[in-house]
Amino acid sequence: MPGYTDLICQALSKVQDSYAPYSHYHVAAALRSSDGRIFHGINIENAAYTPTVCAERTAFFKAVSEGVRSFDAIAIVAAAKSDLPARMQAPAAVPCYPTPCGVCRQVMREFCDPDTFTVILARSADDFKVYTLKELLPESFGPEFLQT
Ligand code: THU
Repeated sequence: MPGYTDLICQALSKVQDSYAPYSHYHVAAALRSSDGRIFHGINIENAAYTPTVCAERTAFFKAVSEGVRSFDAIAIVAAAKSDLPARMQAPAAVPCYPTPCGVCRQVMREFCDPDTFTVILARSADDFKVYTLKELLPESFGPEFLQT
């Protein structure tokens, strides 16, 4: 599956930057724009808890704030704190496929075509699941509903 492994490795390369001192669930994402640029994101937690932002939204907000609004794929990886040293050396499998939360799915829906945008949930570079956004967020509400 061309391109998936590269994007997963891009995400894995950033998981050590995740700031997750409360959950110890370290997440990283690599978002590919339609013109081939990569935007990385990590989850950033907060002592007040609710300001926490997920890795996926970090990646999207970085890209959109740079003027990029067209995307074709995102790879998401996660590691527990105890897994981090191993994953910095070689991608090691974690128990769960890191599925995006509902809020992040809705942010994807704002900028991506649900039929074609590809979401890659990776336990390692060679153990991953691939979905379209439509599969993860069926019957979704999007910007076209508000256009007059
Ligand atoms: N988290 C993400 O970064 N992405 C997801 O899709 C699910 C959850 C983060 C938020 C929080 O820092 C930690 O994982 C535990 O929920």
